[in-house]
Amino acid sequence: MEAYIEKISIAIDGPASAGKSTIAKKIAEALHLIYLDTGAMYRSLTFAALNNQTPFDNEKALVSLLATCTIAFKMENGVQKVSLNDEDVTQQIRSMDVTNHVSEVSSHVAVRKEMVRRQQEIAEAGGIVMDGRDIGTVVLPHADLKVFLVASAEERASRRYQELTANGVEVSLEQLTEDMKARDHYDTHRTASPLKKAEDAIELNTTHMNIEEVINEMLSLVDKI
Ligand code: DC
Repeated sequence: MEAYIEKISIAIDGPASAGKSTIAKKIAEALHLIYLDTGAMYRSLTFAALNNQTPFDNEKALVSLLATCTIAFKMENGVQKVSLNDEDVTQQIRSMDVTNHVSEVSSHVAVRKEMVRRQQEIAEAGGIVMDGRDIGTVVLPHADLKVFLVASAEERASRRYQELTANGVEVSLEQLTEDMKARDHYDTHRTASPLKKAEDAIELNTTHMNIEEVINEMLSLVDKI
């Protein structure tokens, strides 16, 4: 069982702020697996595009830009850091500017193709927990466990609101709820691998669950693999 667990792959998908990264991190920690935040990869490219003034609707230019981007992850004192061409961008990729443009950047087929190639390369050896939008459907279609996390847009906006205000960022809950719904719409309606539950994914509605409860539920799902 232990040896098997070391090699398993877990795909966690769902809409923005459904708790994917928090849960994925904890599960990876509990099972000693690698955690890969695929959203951070799209965010890093968006950050690079902002810096280089690459238009978000120019697929070709974005792909060329991506070819120059080395996106890497490393653990530092228990915290996962994201670097872009050796520069730590962990904080910058969470900015509102990046958040507001990442959906458009990630909607391009050729951008996704290269990102998926990089993600599959990282996942090749197994022993991984990945979170994103297309992990169970495209990146890891043969994952040992696929979970689709959902929560109401209001609940997700409220979680995001608490997170941002705790960090001293001034935002309105109404605006966040609207942005959340707009991003959901964009992510589920784009042509290239839209956000969609894989047929064999288990849906977990976390609207009325706390983190602990979600983790326990996930660990019991791993036990049943
Ligand atoms: O999970 P996140 O909010 O950091 O993701 C940022 C954006 O990237 C989100 O709007 C959708 C996109 N994304 C994607 O299209 N596919 C993934 N596997 C991960 C994220």
